[in-house]
Amino acid sequence: MDYTNLFTKDMPAEVAGPPGQAEDTKYTFSVTYTDRDTMPVQGFVDALADIMPREGVELAKYPPPQGHVGLREYIAQALHDNRGMDVPVDNIFLSAGAGGAVGTILDAFIDAGDTVLVEEFCYSGTLGMLMGKRANVIHVRSDENGMDTDALEQTVKGLVAGGTQPKLIYTISVYQNPMGMTLSAERRRRMVEISQTYGIPILENESYADFRIDGDPLPQAMYGMDDQGGVSHVSAYTKLLGCGLRLGFGVVPDPVKEVVGKLRFGASPSHLASMAVFEYLNTHGDEYIAEVARSLGAKRDAMLAALGEHFPPSCEWSNPHGGMMLWGRLPEGADTWNTLEKAVAAGVKYNPGAVYRATREPNNYMRLTYSYHDVDEIRDGIAILAGVFEREGLFEGA
Ligand SMILES: Cc1ncc(COP(=O)(O)O)c(C=O)c1O
Repeated sequence: MDYTNLFTKDMPAEVAGPPGQAEDTKYTFSVTYTDRDTMPVQGFVDALADIMPREGVELAKYPPPQGHVGLREYIAQALHDNRGMDVPVDNIFLSAGAGGAVGTILDAFIDAGDTVLVEEFCYSGTLGMLMGKRANVIHVRSDENGMDTDALEQTVKGLVAGGTQPKLIYTISVYQNPMGMTLSAERRRRMVEISQTYGIPILENESYADFRIDGDPLPQAMYGMDDQGGVSHVSAYTKLLGCGLRLGFGVVPDPVKEVVGKLRFGASPSHLASMAVFEYLNTHGDEYIAEVARSLGAKRDAMLAALGEHFPPSCEWSNPHGGMMLWGRLPEGADTWNTLEKAVAAGVKYNPGAVYRATREPNNYMRLTYSYHDVDEIRDGIAILAGVFEREGLFEGA
């Protein structure tokens, strides 16, 4: 078969990755894998043993387009109790991870050339989707309280004055990936005001909301603050219960629901996975979430201690109150993009800061995840990484 002229001309744009990124390594500090030390493997076995006799025959049919009703009811209750959101079950759809829900919502909004506002550094998966769609991605200054809403409004005003109406504000508003901060209550109110004033919908990604280790309780989700149907919300059970489950969800206001419905809600995820997750969370959810937070707290502290021991004081690290990652700034001039290959050869993987920027130019930032490995492995892996950076001159600065 000659395929030369047969493939679609509408492929996503290619997005460059750093050399070494695709290799396997002994120490993986580059992905927010589930905490394997708390992951409830036997809990799933028991949950399936309980639910299969009751609901298993349902697998003979296709599931509802928006996914398992019991799990959506559980999500509606959890969002009410924990995130200050009152959402009808019909406005929730299950998806293949948070990424599936984000992808479907972006498909509903974004065409090539559309302008999307994101944090100063933005999770590489969503950024890759936006770049794949050839969107015009604008990074907005962000600090320890999240996206700077004054800077956001200035940017929006400038764009509108120049004839560009932004299509979407995308924010990872809780334990931001990669920077680790949470958007403050005050800035959430401002962001909703800006959204309403300029007619720009918000997509808030709260994938890490279940991972509060310490610090203040989380502010209310913007979905619950907005009374004009301008906010969509996504989250997932992948980080909590297993990335391989591919189970997340989107929550959308009615007009958006109509359109994502036409996109078939991204096609619902495995009903078997939904059944197991529903049964497990319904019976063990609260105690399990508390246990994961304790474990992540110990791992965060172990990683910070190892970084304090092996990295010089010229390197600065975030100290997040939750989530699964640390954000680091090395001395000016340190090129974390081109050093990754050397670290990978030594058995350690991290994410260079440039993967969180649409321009991709190398910079001196990096992200390390602490969720997957145990405390001893974290210590060993960080010591190896420090050795690589020392040898490569990254601690010396420009
Ligand atoms: C903010 C954010 N959104 C989405 C995803 C994708 O997650 P999932 O495996 O649930 O699709 C990730 C994974 O790292 C993430 O950090």
